[in-house]
Amino acid sequence: MVDRVTPRKLAAGNWKMNGLAAQIVEAQALARACPKPGVGVLLCPPATLLAPMAQALAGSAVALGGQDCHVAEKGAHTGDIAAAMLADAGASHVILGHSERRADHGETSAQVAAKLRSAWKAGLTAIVCLGETAEDRAAGRTLQVVGAQLTASLAEGADAANTVIAYEPVWAIGSGQTPTPEQIAEVHAFLRAHVPDAGMTLLYGGSVNPGNAAAIFAIPGVDGALVGGASLKAVDFGAIVAALEAA
Ligand code: PGA
Repeated sequence: MVDRVTPRKLAAGNWKMNGLAAQIVEAQALARACPKPGVGVLLCPPATLLAPMAQALAGSAVALGGQDCHVAEKGAHTGDIAAAMLADAGASHVILGHSERRADHGETSAQVAAKLRSAWKAGLTAIVCLGETAEDRAAGRTLQVVGAQLTASLAEGADAANTVIAYEPVWAIGSGQTPTPEQIAEVHAFLRAHVPDAGMTLLYGGSVNPGNAAAIFAIPGVDGALVGGASLKAVDFGAIVAALEAA
């Protein structure tokens, strides 16, 4: 029998296309607010802020991640960023297959799987995002869609050490709407049963904020959150980290 590690709790902040140099102070404030967190804390700023944020967070418990990487190690791919560049800038993680990348750039699960291999090769832990649209949910095919994305997005060799899964219903992202605890529990139980390594960290993402974080972290099978809007302010994200520590 394969050894299963305990899922590591993780609060990951995705700044998306937000943040100028002046916002580095938020990362510094977060690091001050959680000097010794009992959970993993990660910020994924836009690529332009990776290097200065790495400098600002040096010696702190807050880790750094990218928001995407290219499949190739280097080369003629204008505007893209390689996994090795993220690692070189100080990142330990990379978000892959976010629904905004799938929608804005037509990213497929097969491409996500290929990116996963590049990320691992560069020593990065990947956070793979999956989730149904409102239409999928209304049609009763949530588990089918999430299951298909999981199977197609995970490359061979995915385990609890190199991959985190984030369940992010597309309709919950940035909308202020969240699924019911039962709906989140159902998808997380499904994912736990279908991931290649039962010890994988499973995050929930979509309109997590300081007001709903504790209730979300109390849902069985939820090991943390991928947070967008509420990760931009240290006071809000710090409160979410504290709720995860208390869970
Ligand atoms: P949100 O974004 O917290 O702003 O809804 C979550 C995400 O897209 O990861």
